[in-house]
Amino acid sequence: MDKEKLISRLNWFYSLELNQVDLYKSQSKAFAKEYAGLVFERLSSIEQRHVDNIGTKIKELGAKPTAIGDVLSPVIGHIAGKIIGWRDLTEVLKINTLIEQKAMKDYKGLIEDIKNNHFGSEELIKVLQNNFIDENLHTEWLKTKLSELQTLAFCLDP
Ligand SMILES: [Fe+2]
Ligand SMILES: [Fe+2]
Repeated sequence: MDKEKLISRLNWFYSLELNQVDLYKSQSKAFAKEYAGLVFERLSSIEQRHVDNIGTKIKELGAKPTAIGDVLSPVIGHIAGKIIGWRDLTEVLKINTLIEQKAMKDYKGLIEDIKNNHFGSEELIKVLQNNFIDENLHTEWLKTKLSELQTLAFCLDP
């Protein structure tokens, strides 16, 4: 992997994280009256930290962080603009989990590629690992909340 390739992969994460900031922000408003809304607000600010730390690494490589547009749609198989308006918490949790898992898979892939190619720094690996851990924690909360809702739905079934 050469430097240009690394920059382009980091730009992909930069865009994904930006998309997630917007998504969680809109969800925090949609579910403002619920605990989930507070969690989405918190997640949005953690994703913003990821935007910033990836952006810093791109700059250190001598490039300008560049948003490459909507990277969510190919991941979720829906138009990203459409899911922003979703009001069904179960569906929202499912789609968020899908996106977090994609982020984890790709962070893991990039970390492995960097290690195998002896390219990039220990510091970059640490940033990517920390982001991965955050996404892992996000995923666990989303799954827990989803199973809570599904159990509730089951118990309330006539
Ligand atoms: Fe993130
Ligand atoms: Fe996340």
